[in-house]
Amino acid sequence: MAVLVTGGAGYIGSHAVAALLEKGEQVVIVDNLYQGHREALLGGKLYEGDLRDADFLSKVFQENEIDGVIHFAANSLVGESMKDPGKYYHNNVYGTLCLLEEMKKAGVSRIVFSSTAATYGEPERVPIDEFDRTVPTNAYGETKLSMEKMIRWFDVAHGIKFVSLRYFNAAGAHESGSIGEDHAPETHLVPLVLQVALGQREHISVFGDDYSTEDGTCIRDYVHVSDLADAHILALEKLRQGGESAVYNLGSGNGYSVKQVIDVSRAVTGHPISAKIEPRRAGDPAVLIASSERARRELGWTPRREKLEDIVKSAWAWHSANPNGYQK
Ligand code: UFG
Repeated sequence: MAVLVTGGAGYIGSHAVAALLEKGEQVVIVDNLYQGHREALLGGKLYEGDLRDADFLSKVFQENEIDGVIHFAANSLVGESMKDPGKYYHNNVYGTLCLLEEMKKAGVSRIVFSSTAATYGEPERVPIDEFDRTVPTNAYGETKLSMEKMIRWFDVAHGIKFVSLRYFNAAGAHESGSIGEDHAPETHLVPLVLQVALGQREHISVFGDDYSTEDGTCIRDYVHVSDLADAHILALEKLRQGGESAVYNLGSGNGYSVKQVIDVSRAVTGHPISAKIEPRRAGDPAVLIASSERARRELGWTPRREKLEDIVKSAWAWHSANPNGYQK
């Protein structure tokens, strides 16, 4: 039996593939390599293709004995989703529909879904728990929420059990140093800050210092990518043991401001890292912190790399050894 990982060559997907391989699982990967990297796969069997290609996907299910799916494949840039929502509906929502139809045909009844804190939108309170209101403020978050809901109806009608994992801010890299974050374009704070340390960028732009937080910059909950990967394996195990469908937040429960991230990065890298205050970025909530109590209690999830310093250290090990990412 094998686990099918869609989007397994992407940032979080590749760390989940690594964790599955470490557990001795057979892994089949589907990735169109639009954002993913072949080099990010430490093993497993790659099928290069798109979820929306029904013939291709049905071949993957026919050629392998799949006992569960972990579904990462999606576009995930908030800004882009506001300029081109159609792309997000087509790839994310329609892609998920194609996957679920194929799972139904093949009789595969377990899916772990890569969701996001962007499903909540502007939070009513922090820490955010899974029962808080979900009113996405961008098309990306809206498509992820639609995907969650679609999966739920496939559970009701066809018994496809799911665990949706809503990540907060993924960061860091695999402890082997062999895989890490490599997005083009890069929009995330931690890799951008480290690009300044590497001399690839003059300064980091701080998007607003007039928020109602202690130092005026936005607060986020950074969670190590390998801790996220571990949660997927626990979620799959829960489903294999007959567990009920559920939604879980994944965060460390600690909030760090943009300024704190820059300060920690200065300490970790030993570089001055110049920062410039710039206007707010549209759609950024002031504070996003997860309550992950439910995942800890029901999945037995214990993040092992909770300190921001450790997360940045692992990211720095990857970026300093691979300044051009997977491109040598
Ligand atoms: N930021 C800067 N300068 C930059 C980049 C980011 O100041 O150059 C700030 C942002 O304004 C934000 C914080 O750093 O306050 C973190 O920004 P990221 O872009 O790294 O992450 P986001 O919190 O915007 O987004 C993340 C995921 C999204 C997901 C969202 C959920 O990357 O996929 O969390 O809220 F939708």
